[in-house]
Amino acid sequence: MTFNPIESNTFEKEQINVGQANENDADGILDVQKERILSETKDIEGLSKKGFLIYPISKSDIIDAVSNPKDSFIFVAKDKAGVVIGYFLAYDFLHYLEKYPDWKSDVGNFSSNFEESETVYGKHVATRKGVSGVGTAIDKYSFNQLRERGYKHFIAEICEGPIENSRSSNFHSSKFDLNRIGGYKDKNKYDWGIYLKQL
Ligand SMILES: CC(C)(COP(=O)(O)OP(=O)(O)OC[C@H]1O[C@@H](n2cnc3c(N)ncnc32)[C@H](O)[C@@H]1OP(=O)(O)O)[C@@H](O)C(=O)NCCC(=O)NCCS
Repeated sequence: MTFNPIESNTFEKEQINVGQANENDADGILDVQKERILSETKDIEGLSKKGFLIYPISKSDIIDAVSNPKDSFIFVAKDKAGVVIGYFLAYDFLHYLEKYPDWKSDVGNFSSNFEESETVYGKHVATRKGVSGVGTAIDKYSFNQLRERGYKHFIAEICEGPIENSRSSNFHSSKFDLNRIGGYKDKNKYDWGIYLKQL
Protein backbone atom coordinates (compact mmCIF):
# COMPACT_ATOMS: atom_id res chain seq x y z
CA MET A 1 0.00 0.00 0.00
CA THR A 2 1.40 3.44 -0.82
CA PHE A 3 1.05 6.51 1.36
CA ASN A 4 -1.85 8.53 0.18
CA PRO A 5 -1.94 11.99 1.71
CA ILE A 6 -5.54 13.02 2.05
CA GLU A 7 -5.00 16.33 3.70
CA SER A 8 -2.05 18.61 3.48
CA ASN A 9 -1.45 21.69 5.59
CA THR A 10 1.31 24.17 5.14
CA PHE A 11 2.69 25.55 8.37
CA GLU A 12 5.48 28.04 8.98
CA LYS A 13 8.35 25.61 8.92
CA GLU A 14 7.38 22.78 6.68
CA GLN A 15 4.64 20.94 4.94
CA ILE A 16 2.78 18.35 6.97
CA ASN A 17 0.96 15.55 5.16
CA VAL A 18 -1.51 13.53 7.19
CA GLY A 19 -3.04 10.25 6.06
CA GLN A 20 -3.77 6.61 6.79
CA ALA A 21 -0.75 4.69 8.12
CA ASN A 22 0.50 1.56 6.42
CA GLU A 23 2.81 -1.24 7.52
CA ASN A 24 5.88 0.57 6.21
CA ASP A 25 5.24 3.38 8.68
CA ALA A 26 5.60 1.11 11.72
CA ASP A 27 9.28 1.87 12.35
CA GLY A 28 8.73 5.61 11.92
CA ILE A 29 5.86 5.47 14.41
CA LEU A 30 8.06 3.58 16.88
CA ASP A 31 10.80 6.23 16.45
CA VAL A 32 8.33 8.96 17.41
CA GLN A 33 7.12 6.93 20.37
CA LYS A 34 10.71 6.37 21.54
CA GLU A 35 11.27 10.14 21.72
CA ARG A 36 8.15 10.62 23.83
CA ILE A 37 8.00 7.65 26.17
CA LEU A 38 8.51 8.44 29.84
CA SER A 39 12.20 8.09 30.59
CA GLU A 40 14.32 8.16 33.70
CA THR A 41 14.78 11.91 33.38
CA LYS A 42 14.42 13.98 36.53
CA ASP A 43 13.17 16.95 34.49
CA ILE A 44 9.60 16.68 35.71
CA GLU A 45 8.75 20.25 34.80
CA GLY A 46 10.08 19.72 31.25
CA LEU A 47 8.07 16.52 30.84
CA SER A 48 4.93 18.20 32.06
CA LYS A 49 5.43 21.10 29.62
CA LYS A 50 6.30 18.95 26.59
CA GLY A 51 4.07 15.94 27.26
CA PHE A 52 4.95 12.27 27.40
CA LEU A 53 3.60 8.76 26.88
CA ILE A 54 3.57 6.09 29.58
CA TYR A 55 2.47 2.72 28.21
CA PRO A 56 4.11 1.90 24.87
CA ILE A 57 2.50 0.32 21.85
CA SER A 58 4.32 -2.50 20.06
CA LYS A 59 5.04 -3.09 16.40
CA SER A 60 2.33 -5.76 16.37
CA ASP A 61 -0.18 -3.26 17.79
CA ILE A 62 0.65 -1.04 14.81
CA ILE A 63 0.40 -3.84 12.26
CA ASP A 64 -2.89 -5.01 13.82
CA ALA A 65 -4.30 -1.51 13.66
CA VAL A 66 -3.24 -1.08 10.03
CA SER A 67 -4.81 -4.43 9.15
CA ASN A 68 -8.11 -3.75 10.92
CA PRO A 69 -9.30 -0.38 9.65
CA LYS A 70 -12.88 -1.19 10.64
CA ASP A 71 -12.21 -0.84 14.35
CA SER A 72 -8.70 0.62 14.57
CA PHE A 73 -7.72 4.10 13.45
CA ILE A 74 -4.07 4.80 12.83
CA PHE A 75 -2.96 7.94 11.05
CA VAL A 76 0.46 9.43 10.45
CA ALA A 77 1.82 12.89 9.80
CA LYS A 78 4.83 13.07 7.50
CA ASP A 79 7.19 15.86 6.54
CA LYS A 80 8.07 16.82 2.98
CA ALA A 81 10.67 14.06 2.83
CA GLY A 82 8.15 11.42 3.93
CA VAL A 83 9.54 11.00 7.44
CA VAL A 84 6.93 10.17 10.09
CA ILE A 85 6.70 13.18 12.44
CA GLY A 86 3.55 12.23 14.31
CA TYR A 87 0.92 9.55 14.74
CA PHE A 88 -2.54 8.97 16.16
CA LEU A 89 -3.87 5.58 17.27
CA ALA A 90 -7.44 4.98 18.45
CA TYR A 91 -9.94 2.14 18.59
CA ASP A 92 -13.66 1.64 18.34
CA PHE A 93 -14.56 1.73 22.05
CA LEU A 94 -16.39 -1.63 22.08
CA HIS A 95 -13.43 -3.21 20.29
CA TYR A 96 -11.09 -1.66 22.86
CA LEU A 97 -13.15 -3.14 25.69
CA GLU A 98 -12.81 -6.58 24.06
CA LYS A 99 -9.04 -6.10 23.95
CA TYR A 100 -8.89 -4.81 27.54
CA PRO A 101 -11.87 -6.38 29.33
CA ASP A 102 -10.77 -5.06 32.74
CA TRP A 103 -10.72 -1.44 31.63
CA LYS A 104 -14.10 -0.50 33.05
CA SER A 105 -13.58 -2.20 36.41
CA ASP A 106 -10.11 -0.64 36.69
CA VAL A 107 -11.50 2.80 35.95
CA GLY A 108 -14.51 2.52 38.26
CA ASN A 109 -17.32 5.01 37.97
CA PHE A 110 -17.25 7.84 35.54
CA SER A 111 -20.08 9.61 33.84
CA SER A 112 -20.46 7.32 30.83
CA ASN A 113 -23.47 9.18 29.50
CA PHE A 114 -22.48 8.49 25.91
CA GLU A 115 -23.47 5.72 23.55
CA GLU A 116 -20.54 3.28 23.64
CA SER A 117 -21.14 1.97 20.13
CA GLU A 118 -20.70 5.53 18.81
CA THR A 119 -17.47 6.12 20.71
CA VAL A 120 -13.78 5.92 19.87
CA TYR A 121 -11.09 5.38 22.50
CA GLY A 122 -7.89 7.35 21.89
CA LYS A 123 -4.79 5.35 22.73
CA HIS A 124 -1.89 7.59 21.65
CA VAL A 125 -1.13 10.80 19.89
CA ALA A 126 2.46 11.90 19.65
CA THR A 127 4.69 14.12 17.56
CA ARG A 128 8.42 14.32 16.99
CA LYS A 129 10.27 16.74 19.25
CA GLY A 130 11.24 20.07 17.73
CA VAL A 131 8.43 20.34 15.18
CA SER A 132 5.40 22.54 15.70
CA GLY A 133 1.88 22.36 14.36
CA VAL A 134 1.97 18.59 13.91
CA GLY A 135 -0.30 17.76 16.86
CA THR A 136 -2.88 20.24 15.61
CA ALA A 137 -2.73 18.88 12.06
CA ILE A 138 -3.00 15.22 13.05
CA ASP A 139 -5.75 15.70 15.64
CA LYS A 140 -7.78 17.82 13.23
CA TYR A 141 -7.45 15.20 10.51
CA SER A 142 -8.14 12.28 12.85
CA PHE A 143 -11.25 13.79 14.45
CA ASN A 144 -12.61 14.59 10.99
CA GLN A 145 -12.02 11.00 9.90
CA LEU A 146 -13.82 9.64 12.98
CA ARG A 147 -16.72 12.03 12.40
CA GLU A 148 -16.97 10.95 8.75
CA ARG A 149 -17.11 7.34 9.88
CA GLY A 150 -20.18 8.14 11.96
CA TYR A 151 -18.69 8.29 15.45
CA LYS A 152 -20.14 10.83 17.87
CA HIS A 153 -17.82 10.70 20.88
CA PHE A 154 -14.12 10.38 21.60
CA ILE A 155 -12.62 9.48 24.96
CA ALA A 156 -9.00 9.50 26.04
CA GLU A 157 -6.89 9.32 29.17
CA ILE A 158 -4.34 11.94 30.12
CA CYS A 159 -1.81 11.35 32.90
CA GLU A 160 -2.24 13.51 35.99
CA GLY A 161 0.24 12.01 38.40
CA PRO A 162 2.86 11.53 39.66
CA ILE A 163 3.71 13.83 36.71
CA GLU A 164 0.93 15.83 35.13
CA ASN A 165 0.85 15.89 31.34
CA SER A 166 -0.20 19.52 31.28
CA ARG A 167 0.97 19.92 27.68
CA SER A 168 -1.61 17.37 26.54
CA SER A 169 -4.46 18.44 28.82
CA ASN A 170 -4.01 22.14 27.90
CA PHE A 171 -3.61 21.38 24.20
CA HIS A 172 -6.58 19.02 24.01
CA SER A 173 -8.97 21.04 26.13
CA SER A 174 -8.19 24.41 24.59
CA LYS A 175 -7.84 23.40 20.93
CA PHE A 176 -10.11 20.34 20.65
CA ASP A 177 -12.74 20.75 23.40
CA LEU A 178 -11.89 17.63 25.36
CA ASN A 179 -13.55 17.83 28.79
CA ARG A 180 -12.54 15.94 31.89
CA ILE A 181 -15.34 13.58 32.99
CA GLY A 182 -13.54 11.47 35.58
CA GLY A 183 -10.29 10.08 36.85
CA TYR A 184 -8.71 7.03 38.50
CA LYS A 185 -5.45 5.54 39.71
CA ASP A 186 -4.19 2.52 37.75
CA LYS A 187 -2.47 -0.66 39.03
CA ASN A 188 0.94 0.98 38.59
CA LYS A 189 -0.20 4.01 40.61
CA TYR A 190 -0.43 6.44 37.72
CA ASP A 191 -3.32 8.89 38.01
CA TRP A 192 -5.35 9.39 34.86
CA GLY A 193 -7.95 11.94 33.87
CA ILE A 194 -10.64 10.66 31.50
CA TYR A 195 -11.60 13.15 28.82
CA LEU A 196 -14.58 13.22 26.51
CA LYS A 197 -14.97 15.05 23.23
CA GLN A 198 -18.16 15.33 21.20
CA LEU A 199 -17.16 14.77 17.59
C1 LIG B 1 0.63 16.77 22.96
C2 LIG B 1 1.15 16.87 21.53
C3 LIG B 1 0.57 15.76 20.67
C4 LIG B 1 0.70 18.22 20.96
O1 LIG B 1 1.17 18.32 19.66
P1 LIG B 1 2.11 19.54 19.17
O2 LIG B 1 2.61 19.20 17.83
O3 LIG B 1 3.12 19.79 20.23
O4 LIG B 1 1.08 20.72 19.12
P2 LIG B 1 1.16 21.98 18.15
O5 LIG B 1 2.56 22.29 17.78
O6 LIG B 1 0.16 21.74 17.08
O7 LIG B 1 0.75 23.13 19.13
C5 LIG B 1 -0.54 23.48 19.41
C6 LIG B 1 -0.59 24.75 20.19
O8 LIG B 1 0.11 24.71 21.42
C7 LIG B 1 1.05 25.80 21.51
N1 LIG B 1 2.27 25.31 22.13
C8 LIG B 1 3.36 24.85 21.50
N2 LIG B 1 4.28 24.42 22.39
C9 LIG B 1 3.74 24.64 23.62
C10 LIG B 1 4.19 24.41 24.94
N3 LIG B 1 5.39 23.88 25.19
N4 LIG B 1 3.35 24.71 25.95
C11 LIG B 1 2.14 25.24 25.72
N5 LIG B 1 1.66 25.48 24.48
C12 LIG B 1 2.46 25.20 23.45
C13 LIG B 1 1.33 26.19 20.10
O9 LIG B 1 1.66 27.56 20.09
C14 LIG B 1 0.02 25.90 19.43
O10 LIG B 1 -0.88 26.93 19.58
P3 LIG B 1 -1.31 27.81 18.30
O11 LIG B 1 -1.66 26.82 17.20
O12 LIG B 1 -2.49 28.58 18.80
O13 LIG B 1 -0.10 28.60 17.98
C15 LIG B 1 2.70 16.80 21.47
O14 LIG B 1 3.23 17.86 22.21
C16 LIG B 1 3.29 15.49 21.96
O15 LIG B 1 3.43 14.54 21.20
N6 LIG B 1 3.69 15.41 23.25
C17 LIG B 1 4.28 14.19 23.80
C18 LIG B 1 3.32 13.02 23.80
C19 LIG B 1 2.03 13.35 24.50
O16 LIG B 1 2.00 14.00 25.54
N7 LIG B 1 0.94 12.85 23.92
C20 LIG B 1 -0.38 12.96 24.51
C21 LIG B 1 -0.57 11.87 25.51
S1 LIG B 1 -2.15 12.03 26.32
